[in-house]
Amino acid sequence: MPVDPFTIAAQAGGTHQTADGLDSGIVPAMQPSTTFRRGPGLTEEFIYRRYGHPGAVTVEETATQLDGGAGALVFSSGMAALSAVLDSVPMGGHVVAPMVMYHGGQDWMRAQADIGRIVLTLFNSDDPGALEQALTEATDLLWLETPTNPLWGLIDIAAATELGHAAGATVVVDSTVAPPVTTRPLALGADLVFHSATKYYNGHSDVLAGILITKVLDDRWQHIETIRGSHGSILGAFDAWLLLRGLRTMPLRYTRSCESAAAIAAVFEHHPQVERVLYPGLASHPGHDIAARQMTGGFGGMLSILVKGGSTQALRVAESTRLFANATSLGGVESLIEHRASYQSTPVPENLLRISVGIEDPDELIADLGQALSG
Ligand SMILES: Cc1ncc(COP(=O)(O)O)c(C=O)c1O
Repeated sequence: MPVDPFTIAAQAGGTHQTADGLDSGIVPAMQPSTTFRRGPGLTEEFIYRRYGHPGAVTVEETATQLDGGAGALVFSSGMAALSAVLDSVPMGGHVVAPMVMYHGGQDWMRAQADIGRIVLTLFNSDDPGALEQALTEATDLLWLETPTNPLWGLIDIAAATELGHAAGATVVVDSTVAPPVTTRPLALGADLVFHSATKYYNGHSDVLAGILITKVLDDRWQHIETIRGSHGSILGAFDAWLLLRGLRTMPLRYTRSCESAAAIAAVFEHHPQVERVLYPGLASHPGHDIAARQMTGGFGGMLSILVKGGSTQALRVAESTRLFANATSLGGVESLIEHRASYQSTPVPENLLRISVGIEDPDELIADLGQALSG
């Protein structure tokens, strides 16, 4: 069995036989059926699409291998996967999460806390003692995200997991911006890994998807699978087919984005119109030491630039790039730029531009950002 992410991804689904049998295609066929035959000689691996289907299983087998887990579940979006994890928390259970994380996920956690479904404690991941203070003996779930969106702060997964486990909590890591090419949270002790597969896994900005990978097939995992089956939040057949196609090149695309992001960060760190560049690969970044240990295959394709001149100048720059599209999201082949303070519900510097570096020529990207900053 291959262990290298490039090999696993490139051959994803290549050996899978479809439920309908004799298919020797190098890539799996798309199976759109919502129901599956029963009877003598049939495996009955699939019954009804809401509970699982060949396309979903093929993605799940690949994700399990990539993150080194015992099993995976694919969802209709990252948020559907996050919601399933939250729904597995007992009524009134205690959830601990970082103050800086994907704002949509935090908004949903807050909404669940507002109606008394969970008790939520947010901790400052830049304060070394804050996580220990936030955890209690009653904590059910510790949600981590690293690097944290959009400041790209680093959480030491091994150290945080140890604290979470000492409190008896299940530890989940949102590793969307650090896929298994660079970080494997299960090997660092975490119980579950979360990816918004909308981002690097798919990589072509045309599929919404979420993936969870588990270290052990325990009761919580079974509960999460039941939630997905009951809610119908499994990924659809065509989207699963597209996702598999996208993820075959994920390691290649991610590595290229990392190299280009590092080059862009180095150039603009000293640009006269730039106050600060936030990128885990820069020695000046507060989380650089942790990143150097934890992100072994590259420091990511995401960076943020704090421009001089406040939000007015930041908005002007975001509207002046020609190659970077002024749009939200990340992890696609095309580069994006976004003024986060205009859209984000959690606090963010008003002069921050979040940049997702795609796979274009890095020199052309640097020239484009340069003209937008100086124009
Ligand atoms: C870090 C992170 N986690 C989770 C999500 C939610 O995923 P989705 O948009 O696939 O529902 C996003 C989406 O932007 C994200 O950036």
